[in-house]
Amino acid sequence: MCGIVGYIGNQQACPILLDGMSKLEYRGYDSAGIAVYDGKRIDIEKCVGRLQALRIKIQGHEPQGTVGIGHTRWATHGRPSDRNAHPHCDESGRFVVVHNGIIENYLELKEYLLEKGHRFSSDTDTEVVAHLMADQYDGDFLSTVKKVIRRIDGSYSLVFLCADEPDKLITTKKDNPLVIGLGEGENFIASDIPAIIGHTRRTYIMSDGEIAIVTKDAVRVEDLNGNPINKKVYNVTWNAEAAEKGGFEHFMLKEIYEQPKAVRETMRGRLGKEEGTIDFPELNWTKADLRGIKKVFIVACGTAYHAGLVGKYYLEKFARIPVETDIASEFRYRDPLVDSSCLMIVISQSGETSDTLAALREAKRLGARTMAVTNVVGSSIAREADQVVYTYAGPEIAVASTKAYTTQLIVMLMLGIYVGRLRGELSDELARTLTRDLREIPEQIHAMLEDTEQIKIFAKRYGSSENAFFLGRSLDYFVALEGALKLKEISYIHAEAYAAGELKHGTLALVVEGLPVIVLATQADVYPKTISNLKEVKAREAEVIAIALQGDREIDKVADHVIYVPKTDKFLAPILAVLPLQLLAYYAALTRGCDVDKPRNLAKSVTVE
Ligand code: M6R
Repeated sequence: MCGIVGYIGNQQACPILLDGMSKLEYRGYDSAGIAVYDGKRIDIEKCVGRLQALRIKIQGHEPQGTVGIGHTRWATHGRPSDRNAHPHCDESGRFVVVHNGIIENYLELKEYLLEKGHRFSSDTDTEVVAHLMADQYDGDFLSTVKKVIRRIDGSYSLVFLCADEPDKLITTKKDNPLVIGLGEGENFIASDIPAIIGHTRRTYIMSDGEIAIVTKDAVRVEDLNGNPINKKVYNVTWNAEAAEKGGFEHFMLKEIYEQPKAVRETMRGRLGKEEGTIDFPELNWTKADLRGIKKVFIVACGTAYHAGLVGKYYLEKFARIPVETDIASEFRYRDPLVDSSCLMIVISQSGETSDTLAALREAKRLGARTMAVTNVVGSSIAREADQVVYTYAGPEIAVASTKAYTTQLIVMLMLGIYVGRLRGELSDELARTLTRDLREIPEQIHAMLEDTEQIKIFAKRYGSSENAFFLGRSLDYFVALEGALKLKEISYIHAEAYAAGELKHGTLALVVEGLPVIVLATQADVYPKTISNLKEVKAREAEVIAIALQGDREIDKVADHVIYVPKTDKFLAPILAVLPLQLLAYYAALTRGCDVDKPRNLAKSVTVE
């Protein structure tokens, strides 16, 4: 997820690009760059760091010209650095491109281009596109763009600038947002409306496969075959601040709604073409490598730790490897029994959490092999681990982790399948069921997020409670932990999660009339036992909201309310069951007037012990 901006008109492009990019920093902020045609050539300025670093770098010698493109980066291929910052160009400097997304077949294309003598100056997938433009150039900018689009796979919004035809910008998209802002004698391109709302409210919202040829006086949209497309003008009615959050009231809600796309990105290129297969090209593990691993440690903090608990379950179940989970702040002080036969997996959205980093270093010191599951490319944890699997969730701004968690679950599930198959412990049949159900997940999440009325009602009804309990068994227990954390973190309601069977060992004493108890009941193998526990709290007159799979005909006879999640395999249920809990926490926090995105006493990245 990155921010892209384009301008063509009569004004100086540089300040307009920088202003637009400043509105898109929430989409990425590890490096920034601009390219402006100065009348003779395309001048590119870029550097690692926030936009402010670029402003300082170009102060006093800003590129001059009235057509240009800009980019704020959220690294996916190649760590944040000057050379990996966008825009990228071919060796002649004729073609310059900015890109948001992932070019899946970039390695194959890069090999082809290397063979033809191209020399690359970055580690990015995007640079391949610029070189491919040069390779395919037939003297016509538009026809070359079309040839290139036909050869690339993946997800993208792309804006191209060509020194031979500087009177136009060409842009296209697939699975990534792109808007055109329509001005008078000038036009704008952006990956999101906030970048252009200060200039115009008249926009074209681009669809996949559409190509826009943008000059200062006109915008022409056509498909790959040259058929014209008649776009409807969409008038933006929101204000700039709301636009930055994509029209959502808070980043947290926006990020909850980004989950279908986020999990799709996590699976992209990893779900094998053949059902039941998973590919982690970044791991390159052999059977022998895996045979050498006698034990796995999964270490993380907070929400990431909860994802780790689910991960332990998957690895033990599918790969039959013993797994220990640890809270990172505990791990290194307990003199853990770690050696070279162990694999240490650390999970961290930010990749900067100091306890998790310290645990990683401790495991390395003790000789373990290490692997990071993280969202932030080039983060400290990503750099220090032997191997990295990125979640590709895009920047998470709200303190409360939502899409990071679901994408971590997806990675851990895919990892379980991958290792399970390599070790020969997972049956083909179960592997096929799992990957088949995984493909359904984005659409199922989308459907769940379409209908949230019931959750809003519960949030209002129970928002004034001072306490809440979350119960579950097996995988449901781990989701209960995450649900309770979410609720306490942003609504300040005291919430506790318990393995449902633990209740009568003490906690049941706290269950009183009217206490909201959220019972997760998605796991068939422990279902009757969970229902017994549900009845125990009902007998103490608690109010039970159950989370169950669609098709469950029993649950509404015993619970006060039921939230149904789409039917899926029990192993995938946590990915769906957590959604109502995220929303419940969000709407409860709203009811209580809390600062949802910045809860008191907390920070997004915990870089102190
Ligand atoms: O960046 P990390 O994933 O390492 O962060 C770990 C925790 O601090 C984080 O998950 C925290 O618990 C969230 N704010 C919970 O929503």
